[in-house]
Amino acid sequence: MSYQIAIDGPAGAGKSTIARALAKDLGLIYVDTGALYRAIGYYMYHNGISIDDDAAVIVALDGLRVSLAHVEGEQHVFVNDEDVSNRIRTPQISMAASKISAIPGVRAFLLNLQRDIAAAHSVVMDGRDIGTVILPNADVKIFLTASPESRAERRYKELVEKGESVTLDAVLADMKKRDYDDAHRAAAPLRKADDAVEVDTSALNLEQSIARMKEVVLENLPK
Ligand code: DC
Repeated sequence: MSYQIAIDGPAGAGKSTIARALAKDLGLIYVDTGALYRAIGYYMYHNGISIDDDAAVIVALDGLRVSLAHVEGEQHVFVNDEDVSNRIRTPQISMAASKISAIPGVRAFLLNLQRDIAAAHSVVMDGRDIGTVILPNADVKIFLTASPESRAERRYKELVEKGESVTLDAVLADMKKRDYDDAHRAAAPLRKADDAVEVDTSALNLEQSIARMKEVVLENLPK
């Protein structure tokens, strides 16, 4: 029996940390689909292809193979056999990933890759459109969210810990802008699937969030 657990939600709600822990707890494979968009953003950025030129991005997809592999439980993402996992978490690549993820041809390019992974394994898959587009028949769908203020505060602390000089106001403004862009793009906008359970982590710490998610999964998995 294989299971599909779809987790969607805005940036900074703790999706990847919580989904990874949940997958480990349940013995399922964690699939971070944001890494696929980041891998494409990385490829465009490093090959000098303008991410504002949708047609050029689509043409460039022709020479591109993106794949995922799991090594000791950790997901690795490959661009034409190059492991780019450690190179896709920079602000430039976040920006590039966000831009190219709004192009319908890019989303179509990644659709079957995501569905094939979920068909081959039991997965906890996180993203923006997993419950709405990629796995509309997922066994459990969770929309993981938190108030913009609490998401901004968490992101602000992470950035300060990394030694970056930012203000909480700037992080909050950026968060609100990304929420707006994600929810208003034409291609697969971020929205809660009608049959998703909403989990709001604003008042929960990490452990409580994982426990709550586990509860929702166990309540909703087919018996
Ligand atoms: O979750 P993340 O920050 O790694 O995602 C990177 C970008 O990709 C982000 O701008 C949203 C986009 N994305 C998407 O459009 N659909 C997904 N399923 C996952 C990510």
